[in-house]
Amino acid sequence: MKDNATIWISGTHHNIFSVQQQLLKLDFKILNVITWAKTNPPPNISCRYFTYSTEFIIWARKSQKVAHYYNYELMKQLNGNKQMTDVWQLPAIGRWEKSCGKHPTQKPLGVLARLIQASTQPGAWILDPFNGSATTGIAANLLGRKYLGLEIVDEFLSISKARREEIENSAIRSNYLERLAKAKIILPPDDFFVADEVKLNYGVPWLQE
Ligand SMILES: C[S@@+](CC[C@H](N)C(=O)[O-])C[C@H]1O[C@@H](n2cnc3c(N)ncnc32)[C@H](O)[C@@H]1O
Repeated sequence: MKDNATIWISGTHHNIFSVQQQLLKLDFKILNVITWAKTNPPPNISCRYFTYSTEFIIWARKSQKVAHYYNYELMKQLNGNKQMTDVWQLPAIGRWEKSCGKHPTQKPLGVLARLIQASTQPGAWILDPFNGSATTGIAANLLGRKYLGLEIVDEFLSISKARREEIENSAIRSNYLERLAKAKIILPPDDFFVADEVKLNYGVPWLQE
């Protein structure tokens, strides 16, 4: 990670507190702990507990001293001109997001698109070492960022490849962007910066001549 880079780690109450402890031991500065409050959580089958409806996402920066990037104005604009809070009311994953196959813990594009826009600028490199079905990568590429993902399960790499190929289709890409705009995750197309004219190089930098 670069000194001014930030990291996002998602989890549930089972693991997120120990993740925070490890980050603090490594001298990271915790910037926020986002509560993702799912607007349509799956029901609790046992009926012996409150329905689980939240996940947590820690946002931390590597260096205590080097400033991080936060797109405050965009987040405010997307939130009806009010400061965006650390509670995100967003739906669980939709069926339309599973067109290329199923990953058991696939995240919604909306969650990833929000955090990517909040913490990176177009053209930035984003690494997800636990790629899964590459939701981070799809959100990154839709928003004009470059992406590298690591994944140990071949089947999930195949889903990732299919998803990446899917957004080469401009009708599908537009459909996804429209859905994100409708959900107020990105600005409507007139205002939205699509990096069409920027010839982004998706190659891996350390393999370039
Ligand atoms: C929680 S899932 C990520 C889901 C992803 N955010 C998505 O939307 O599809 C974590 C992924 O990390 C992968 N994984 C676990 N250990 C790994 C390792 N050591 N190296 C690379 N990938 C790993 C798992 O196979 C799994 O697909």
